[in-house]
Amino acid sequence: MSVVLGLNAYHAGASAAVIVDGVPVAAIAEERLNRIKYYARFPTLAIDRCLKMAGLELSDVDAVALGRDSSANRSKKLEYAVRNPTKLLNLVRTKSSRSVLDDLKPLFAREFHVDPERLRFTQHNVEHHLAHTASAYFISEWEKAAGFTIDGSGDFVTCMLSDCEGDTITVRQRVYVPHSLGSLYTMVCQFIGYGKYGDEGKVMGLAPLGQDTYADVFADMVILTDAGLELNPKYFLPFGSSQGMAIDDRGEMAVHRHFSDYMVELFGQPREPHTEITARDQDLAFGLQSMFESVYFHLLGVLHGMVPVDRVVMAGGCALNSVANGKLFDATPFRATCIQPGAGDEGLALGAAFYVSNSVLCEGSRYVMHDAYLGPEFDEAHIQRELDRQRLDYIRLDREQLVDETADEIAKGNVVGWFQGRMEWGPRALGNRSILAHPGRPDMKEILNSRVKHREWFRPFAPSVLSERQAEIFEYDHPSPFMLHVYKIRPAWRARLVAVNHVDDTGRLQTVARHENALYYDLIQAFERRTGIPVVLNTSFNENEPIVCEPSEAVDCFLRTKLDVLAIGPFLCRKTPRRP
Ligand SMILES: [Fe+2]
Repeated sequence: MSVVLGLNAYHAGASAAVIVDGVPVAAIAEERLNRIKYYARFPTLAIDRCLKMAGLELSDVDAVALGRDSSANRSKKLEYAVRNPTKLLNLVRTKSSRSVLDDLKPLFAREFHVDPERLRFTQHNVEHHLAHTASAYFISEWEKAAGFTIDGSGDFVTCMLSDCEGDTITVRQRVYVPHSLGSLYTMVCQFIGYGKYGDEGKVMGLAPLGQDTYADVFADMVILTDAGLELNPKYFLPFGSSQGMAIDDRGEMAVHRHFSDYMVELFGQPREPHTEITARDQDLAFGLQSMFESVYFHLLGVLHGMVPVDRVVMAGGCALNSVANGKLFDATPFRATCIQPGAGDEGLALGAAFYVSNSVLCEGSRYVMHDAYLGPEFDEAHIQRELDRQRLDYIRLDREQLVDETADEIAKGNVVGWFQGRMEWGPRALGNRSILAHPGRPDMKEILNSRVKHREWFRPFAPSVLSERQAEIFEYDHPSPFMLHVYKIRPAWRARLVAVNHVDDTGRLQTVARHENALYYDLIQAFERRTGIPVVLNTSFNENEPIVCEPSEAVDCFLRTKLDVLAIGPFLCRKTPRRP
């Protein structure tokens, strides 16, 4: 038996994953366990939980694969530091603070109170973007594909273009700091008042409300080149090696100011968070998303020129831009995508582990990811204890009753917390830690926001659709099992799906095939029998916090918010006064 433990540590989205004989058996981000969003220090709890899920001890681990390699691209880092002497010290500081990762055994011994002599693993440091590429390629069913990874930055690289074949990833092109599409997105998001780490998705939802007012300015921000892209420095503050990010005392990501005074000269003062969103801010969001798409498709075009195949595997924070992903079949020569569900940096743990298993140890077993359910699950007794502890009234149902009663509740217009099976890997709730609602009720978006989610008014909610019905409802039939593509909704369905139909008549869909999640599939089908709609509204099970992981967190969220129903394991609870 071969055990590879993958890690993303001291970087946003700290996480762990365990691969046994080439097959992932467990993966989880630290934020789900310590409840600190995008936690960016060491994933102690995630490592412990992954090993427990796998039924293994630390001493069983043969290899630890870390999704970073501080020695990678060293000459480029030095070249940049010499050109920007004020950043040289920053580079040295960053290096010394992270040298703890150079030898993981003492760190493991300390964190897990074990004798270092019992740790027999070999350590492999995998360059950030190689780990991203591996995270997507080694879950695909393809023996040959183009590799496209893109983000703010990692190991001084912001985009990697590669040729993936068999067990080998051959890097064809790197784009280096400071030329970063991710940083461009972050800069404008920050300017319009969405400056927290991870806010980029909100601005993607805001974009279609704007107009094409600032195309000239955005065209001046980015120069497209044969090698990729260059940013025009006058819009940006110069970055250090950390690309304008730092980890604060709580382990959260702090985003430093990215925009220059020139942005203020052009557009006036930046928007303060939580103030009114003006036409300027909407138009900036529109221009940003348009420019993002232009650059994204340009880079994909460059990649296709190097690796002329139909298939592209994708990861990195920018690959979470589901709007661009939904358009790439028209805008690029690629005909099929495989995007890692943990496309952001949490996915590095799985990617590094895959890289070591496939490309370093050459274990020769290829795995195809059909679902993202790699997290913890809880047995009936555990769930029942929690319901009793919280003095909830509940009924126990068999599988068919659970599906029918839940479908009845959704069809009636009630909002259901749905907690089943293993938690999803990656940032999306995919029908195991989801809040579900009727997609055809005009008031449902408002109900969800006022009662549970408290999100910005402009952000759309997502549809989960039976896979066989996708092409009838959406304009593309390329599957989106991990909710990473936005497609136009066909005119005949727009009014029937009003709560998931965004202002530009699109939806960020999850296609649900029965072999991926039979219980969720059956629930959607039961809802269709009642309403004629083979779609449910699916949003993550949380209230401004990381998605719930444990039954206790689901029950707390149910009690704290105005969710109507909780369907947790085989138990159904309706919102009634709690037992004495
Ligand atoms: Fe990354």
